[in-house]
Amino acid sequence: ANSFDEECDYLFKAVLIGDSAVGKSNLLSRFAKDEFCLDSKPTIGVEFAYRNIKVGDKVIKAQIWDTAGQERFRAITSSYYRGALGALLVYDITRRSTFESLKKWLKELRHFGSSEMVIVLVGNKSDLIQFREVNLDEGQSFAQLEDLFFMETSAKENLNVEDAFLKMVTSIY
Ligand code: GTP
Ligand code: MG
Repeated sequence: ANSFDEECDYLFKAVLIGDSAVGKSNLLSRFAKDEFCLDSKPTIGVEFAYRNIKVGDKVIKAQIWDTAGQERFRAITSSYYRGALGALLVYDITRRSTFESLKKWLKELRHFGSSEMVIVLVGNKSDLIQFREVNLDEGQSFAQLEDLFFMETSAKENLNVEDAFLKMVTSIY
């Protein structure tokens, strides 16, 4: 273990889910490394990244798992969710079909995940307002109905990305 591990007070696992190309991997790379890639490849299998977060006088080590939105590239679902305390459920505000898939993702999340999991609904690509197909209040209403936190983000412009992850982390502790 490195010195940062010894200084970390909590370790927690969170997962990213949502349709392919909504921007899950870019949200994670923005949060973990402050990087964004315009022509990123679809995720195959599972990847993860860590980031240490200070909450008050505690250091929380967040281990964030990212998998493929495409069914054929997904790894075993139950192990993906096992032990996860938080989830970012992501759709793309410029593609209504990704918003319509949310019910399916929530069903999976609630089936495999813990019932106490903190879920943040994220409408990504808020920089592309001219192509918007899902209004802000539709996201808000869905979140309210399903008892989720909600935020619109842009991984590209780095808008609300930090807030979305921090909302999840601070709601757990
Ligand atoms: P899978 O791994 O297939 O499930 O996709 P994903 O959800 O991980 O999507 P990914 O992060 O690979 O992003 C897909 C495409 O959307 C890439 O071309 C990204 O550059 C682009 N993208 C991601 N976030 C944003 C954003 O906030 N704004 C804009 N304009 N493009 C974005
Ligand atoms: Mg990906």
